[in-house]
Amino acid sequence: MQHTSRRGMMAGAAALTLVGPAIAQNAPIRIGLMLPFSGTFAALGENIAAAFELCLAEHDNRLGGRTVTLVRLDDESDPSKAPQNVNRLLERDKADVLIGTVHSGVVMAMAKVAKDTNTLLVIPNAGARAVTGPMCAPNIFRSSFSNWQPGYAMGKVAGERGAKKVATITWKYAAGDESVEGFKDGLKAAGGEVVKDLTLPFPNVEFQALLTEIAATKPDAVYAFFAGGGAVKFVKDYAAAGLNKTIPLYGPGFLTDGTLEAQGAAAQGMLTTLHYGDGLDTPKDNAFRASYTRTYKAVPDVYAVQGYDAAQMLGIGLAAVKGDLAKRSELVAAMEKARIDSPRGTFTLSKSHDPVQDIYLRKVVGTENHVEGVAVKALADPSPGCKM
Ligand code: PHB
Repeated sequence: MQHTSRRGMMAGAAALTLVGPAIAQNAPIRIGLMLPFSGTFAALGENIAAAFELCLAEHDNRLGGRTVTLVRLDDESDPSKAPQNVNRLLERDKADVLIGTVHSGVVMAMAKVAKDTNTLLVIPNAGARAVTGPMCAPNIFRSSFSNWQPGYAMGKVAGERGAKKVATITWKYAAGDESVEGFKDGLKAAGGEVVKDLTLPFPNVEFQALLTEIAATKPDAVYAFFAGGGAVKFVKDYAAAGLNKTIPLYGPGFLTDGTLEAQGAAAQGMLTTLHYGDGLDTPKDNAFRASYTRTYKAVPDVYAVQGYDAAQMLGIGLAAVKGDLAKRSELVAAMEKARIDSPRGTFTLSKSHDPVQDIYLRKVVGTENHVEGVAVKALADPSPGCKM
């Protein structure tokens, strides 16, 4: 052991006290990225993480003046493993901030732990309404959407295009249920109704019996919520059954985002609604797409945009407190009043911390979800139950 004089120790202690807070702020900030890196949503998680890292790289890997250390965890989109996974990030990996996730069932566990431990959580996809509804909290933010939002816009468009009797099909879990709920609200407002609701458990892809039922029902249109690998298979099976020739297939844009290379001819001409699309041609989106394509040799999708914006939102909060996470109320206030300069277009946050944003109508042309126009401007989820 090194000998230190009492006087030296005293001086050391005094110096430590003086520079203590500064040291804490200069230490790297640890961000836990809890996302699916395997299973049907693997590509979604990868793209969120890639664009989150891109945004960091564009800022010298610093937020609010502090360097960032990322810790990745594959949540497998498995709600039963979620509480253990999120606790592992906090306790074993000592994450200061949580970013995640894609699956609505998994995010419920994340939000519960974030609330119990008062950890800052930014959700870069999962649209579960509860987390910006009854579970809303000052430390929980979303950079993506609520499941209700794109659904509502698609319902409105489908009704306006003359769909009177519509069938819906989705995985049976919160995201599918809430997406269909939004669709029904929009469709009803535009004079249509849903005559049949079909479901199968997540992440099953045995669609055949349900497609037979759709054919027998003969609706004016079908509304489907699927994403990732499941969306690829559904759109292909729908076309293979010949249904796309007579019954238009609508959906939130997740049905065709990041999936078009694999869906090919089966998706051509499809109309979907989402808060992002191809061909926006704004300076911000063009710069983002160029940077992403240069770095990853791939075209970004909506999931990438949401990951990028999660980093931007966190960056705004941390900049306001110069990296001092202890100044929580100032940090939260800065995020709450931010106008986020997103590749999707500028958006703000509602009182419940959910994006208030334009929802575009897109049409599949080749491998693009080409933006045709705005389906609903500055759409806010009514966020029932949020009291903050
Ligand atoms: C969700 O579970 O909330 C979810 C998953 C994938 C999507 C959209 C929503 O593309």
